[in-house]
Amino acid sequence: MNAIVIYKSRYGSTKAYAEWIAEALQCKAVEAKTVRAEDLSEYDAIVYGGGLYAEVINGVSLITKNLDKLEGKKLAVYTTGITPLDCREYYEGEVVEKNFKQGMLDKIKLFNFLGRMVVAELSFPHKAAIKALKKIMSGRENPTEMEKLLIELCDADGDFTDKSAIWELVDFVKGA
Ligand SMILES: Cc1cc2nc3c(=O)[nH]c(=O)nc-3n(C[C@H](O)[C@H](O)[C@H](O)COP(=O)(O)O)c2cc1C
Repeated sequence: MNAIVIYKSRYGSTKAYAEWIAEALQCKAVEAKTVRAEDLSEYDAIVYGGGLYAEVINGVSLITKNLDKLEGKKLAVYTTGITPLDCREYYEGEVVEKNFKQGMLDKIKLFNFLGRMVVAELSFPHKAAIKALKKIMSGRENPTEMEKLLIELCDADGDFTDKSAIWELVDFVKGA
């Protein structure tokens, strides 16, 4: 099985997962900016990873805009983010709706992993975006449970990456 792991990573956690997955699959991990969809014809299995930024999977259009070129291949996409993994309505609702059109997930298997958000590392625009989001959410009169969680997540500060989380994806790609 000829596989490749492609990733787009701003602060390193998506890259860390890409390297762990590539090691397990004994294939290479490459940055998305070095890849064109046309270059992927030689692979049987493609894994794409991107961090979540306002529910958007960073760079995932490399896969979703080129599904016709990737027909017949085994496709896995993983997200990294700070939303707890048991928030299934978030991952299966908002994240899916923002990134995939109807039917796309019949062809792509989606996985979610925890990432890292270390406040001291964030760029100024990212710090400002988190602060603004917290302010907006905190101003809501009757916040939903999800909005309350979002307010809490704005204060997240740490590395939640977990190497042991990769195996379901690895087994999927290997066809186990
Ligand atoms: C501006 C900003 C927006 C974010 N939006 C989300 C989000 O919508 N959902 C989520 O779970 N995590 C969110 N995060 C956390 C990142 O997804 C998380 O830090 C991820 O691991 C980043 O991966 P990367 O450093 O490899 O790009 C956000 C972080 C920043 C700085």
